[in-house]
Amino acid sequence: MTSGYRVALIGSGCWGSAIAKIVGLNVLNQPEIFEKEVLMYVYEEIIDGAKLTDIINLEHENVKYLPDIKISPNVIAVPDVVQACTNADILIFVLPHQFVKETCEKMASAIKPGALGLSLIKGFVLSEGEGIQLVSNIIKNTLNIETAVLMGANLATEVASEMFCETTIACHNPEYHPILSRLFQTPYFRVKVIENVAGVEACGALKNVVGIGAGIVDGLGYGDNTKAAVIRLGLMEMMKFTKVFLDSDDISVFFESCGIADLVATCHGGRNRLLGEAVVKSMKLRGWAGVDIRLLEKEILRGQSFQGPLIAKEIYTYLKDHEMLDQYPLFVAIHRICTREVDPRNFIECLRDHPEHM
Ligand SMILES: NC(=O)c1ccc[n+]([C@@H]2O[C@H](COP(=O)([O-])OP(=O)(O)OC[C@H]3O[C@@H](n4cnc5c(N)ncnc54)[C@H](O)[C@@H]3O)[C@@H](O)[C@H]2O)c1
Repeated sequence: MTSGYRVALIGSGCWGSAIAKIVGLNVLNQPEIFEKEVLMYVYEEIIDGAKLTDIINLEHENVKYLPDIKISPNVIAVPDVVQACTNADILIFVLPHQFVKETCEKMASAIKPGALGLSLIKGFVLSEGEGIQLVSNIIKNTLNIETAVLMGANLATEVASEMFCETTIACHNPEYHPILSRLFQTPYFRVKVIENVAGVEACGALKNVVGIGAGIVDGLGYGDNTKAAVIRLGLMEMMKFTKVFLDSDDISVFFESCGIADLVATCHGGRNRLLGEAVVKSMKLRGWAGVDIRLLEKEILRGQSFQGPLIAKEIYTYLKDHEMLDQYPLFVAIHRICTREVDPRNFIECLRDHPEHM
């Protein structure tokens, strides 16, 4: 190629903005590899009478989703996803998973042939009659491009504050490995690139459900031993599910940042742990009938959303369709607590009676 790789960001929430900070500086510092300008698709919103895209382009800060963190001025916010993706060689997808399909459909006619997709999105896509699919497959099949993934123990606000962490990138094509590493690696954000795309992606989605379970035991007032049990039982269900869903015996991904490290981080920090805890606290305050996840979202997140309950529903649907509900009591209990079929006070019984202890 004559000029450098042109990078675009599709998404600009908390994680998208933290990644924009890293990618913006890395492309600036490596003009021999990358084009300087990075277009970032921003789902337009009005904040105090001004467009979010204008605020980002003026203040170089996403004041709504990642306040007090500066993004380099070569990252340009655009409200039109087609404009953002036109001519891009590397497309970084970082939207909540429920918006990925419709966004890809809008982009389909503007994709540069041979472009590479990279998904940072944690979740599955549940389609009527088709069951659940990996987000990377939706991107790959809708846009007809190879799609890699990046997942890891990467709470966005900590990454944005340059606290040391690791991440896992998976890409089938080894030719891209050094380029992706150069695009993301910083002294505080350490990258390991491997090839098992589906395995890495499944880890990233599944751990969000276990995170809710960790929050539930926090809300119930249990201690670190109980949380460790949730983490271990959750990991066992994650590994079992991945083996069946992906028909793969590769357990090495669970020892990468995308596996055990992300699971531990999610069960201690992160939005889904917060949700689990809030569900129990809200129940104590309002009674079980008064617990409303949408209301908690408004109270706690102010405009963002909890991904965990949606992912729990996606997994539950798969397990039900395949008559495997009884083999995944932790995933099932968490889904049923989120849908108010089960009182969270019964969660400990589910842990106690887990098939691991029979
Ligand atoms: N936040 C984190 O710490 C973190 C870390 C790693 C991975 N992730 C993953 O990154 C993805 C994005 O999460 P986030 O935390 O950046 O999001 P967020 O919750 O901070 O922001 C939500 C985003 O969705 C956009 N949006 C709302 N409606 C939309 C629509 N109809 N179409 C398109 N976009 C719309 C909003 O403008 C906003 O940019 C998720 O899959 C998440 O699991 C998040």
